[in-house]
Amino acid sequence: MQTISKPALTTQIINLFKEIVGKDFVLFDEETLRHYSHDETENLHFLPDVVIKPRTAEEIGAILKICNAGKIPVTPRGAGTGLSGGALPHLGGVLLSTERMNSILEIDERNLQVTTEPGVITEVLQQMVKEKGLFYPPDPASRGSCFIGGNISENSGGPKAVKYGVVKDYVLNLEVVLPTGEIIWTGANVLKNSTGYNLTQLIVGSEGTLGIVTKIVLRLIPHPKYDLLMLVPFKKLEQAGEAVSAIFRAGFVPSAMELVEINALKIVSAFVDSSAIPVTDDIEAHLIIEVDGNNMEVLMSEMEAISLMLTHYEIGEIYFADDAQQKDELWKLRRRVAEAVKLAGYSIEEDTVVPRAELPSLIRGVKELGRQYDFDVVCYGHAGDGNLHIRIKKEGTPNSFGDIEMTKCLRALFELVKNLGGTISGEHGIGLIQKGYMNIVFEEKQLELMRQIKKAFDPNNILNAGKIF
Ligand code: LAC
Ligand code: ZN
Repeated sequence: MQTISKPALTTQIINLFKEIVGKDFVLFDEETLRHYSHDETENLHFLPDVVIKPRTAEEIGAILKICNAGKIPVTPRGAGTGLSGGALPHLGGVLLSTERMNSILEIDERNLQVTTEPGVITEVLQQMVKEKGLFYPPDPASRGSCFIGGNISENSGGPKAVKYGVVKDYVLNLEVVLPTGEIIWTGANVLKNSTGYNLTQLIVGSEGTLGIVTKIVLRLIPHPKYDLLMLVPFKKLEQAGEAVSAIFRAGFVPSAMELVEINALKIVSAFVDSSAIPVTDDIEAHLIIEVDGNNMEVLMSEMEAISLMLTHYEIGEIYFADDAQQKDELWKLRRRVAEAVKLAGYSIEEDTVVPRAELPSLIRGVKELGRQYDFDVVCYGHAGDGNLHIRIKKEGTPNSFGDIEMTKCLRALFELVKNLGGTISGEHGIGLIQKGYMNIVFEEKQLELMRQIKKAFDPNNILNAGKIF
C-alpha cells in the first residue's frame, strides 16, 4: 500500500526539482534532513530524503506532477509545531515546506476578509489585521510560531474557540494544489455558500492528505474593545471541571475558559521563571476565565457575577489581572504549558474532547487510568470546549507510537472518551500517532468513505500517505 521512496528519487528527478524551485531550495545535507525529521510530536524522528522549499503554487504543482508519476511520497509541512505527527516524513521521500510562502496578500477592509499564503505565522496575521481594527480569533498556544496553513490543515482551535469558534468557522475559500498537480479554488469569497459539496470544509482539517493549501481567504470580525481576565484557584480539580459547565448554564459566554492543573502550573512557572500565580499546596487546579466585548460596565458586572457564582465551590482567592502586563504574564504561562511539561518528561500528549458537562467524569477517569497503568498525568486545556489536553509521563516510554503497553492504555482512555460522548482529537488532529485509534470512534463504513475521498483526490496515495487512517 505504501510507496518506497529511495529507488524512485534519482539524480535526474532531483535535478528536475532544482530546475523548478532553484538549487538553493532543494536540500539534502544531514543537518537540514535532521531538522525536518521531527515536529513537536512526542520524541519521534523520521528522516526525509530531500527537503524542497517552493515559493509558488505553480512550483508545487510541477513538483507534485513528478512525484505522482514516480509514486514518490510527499509530506507537506508548515512550521512543524504539530502534535499528532502530521508533518513527520515517516515514509522518507520529499518533505515540502511552505515556509517561503509567507506573504499576506490582501486585507480587504470593505468585506472584512484577508487573503494570505500558508507560511504566515498566525500571530503575525492577527497583528496585521488588528492594526485595521479587525480580529482573526483562532489562537493556538503556538500562535507565535505556527503557520496559518498548518492551522487550516489541523482545523486548530485555541483558547478563544469557546466564544469565537475554530479555524473552520473563518475559512471562506482556499487555493489548493492537488496531489496530481492541478491547482483549484475550493469555493468563493462569500459568507454564505450552498453551492454543491463543500470542498473548502473538506480541505480544512484534512491534515495535508488531500492537497497542499497555497492561498487562504479568511473572514474577519471587528476586534472587541475590551477584555477582562481572572484566575480562580480550586481546591479540587473535579470541582473546577464542574464549575465550567455551570458558568455556561448560567448564561455567560466567556471568551476563554482554560484549565491548568497544579502540576502543570508548577512546571511552567519554573520553566518561564514566573511567580505570577502563587502555587500553594491546597490548590489542585486553576481556571483562567476571560470575558470580552465593547462595553466595560457589562464586562465588569459579568466578571462579578461569575466570581460570585464560583464562591459555591471550594476556591482560594480570585486574582484579577489589572493591566495588559498582568494579562500577558498569565497568558504566557498558559501558552507555554505544552512546551514546559514536555521538557519535564510528559512527552505523550492526548487531545481528548467530551461534551462540556462530562469534563469531571473525564478527569476522574484519566486519574484512575494513571493509577491502573502506572503513569503520571497532568491535565490542562480548553475546559470551556470540553477539550482536555492530557500529558503523560511514563519512565522509559518517551513515545506512545509503537509502544504496546501505552497503546493499551490509550485505547482504554479513548474508550472512556467515546463512552462519555466525546472523540479522540479536538484540535491537534490524528496524523500519524492517533490513526490506530480511529476505529474506536468510527465504524468501518465511515472509514471506508474517508478512504474513498482520499483516493478521489490522490489516486497514487503520494500525499501524506499513512496519515489519519
Ligand atoms: C495548548 C496546545 C497544546 O492548548 O493545544 O496548549
Ligand atoms: Zn490546545
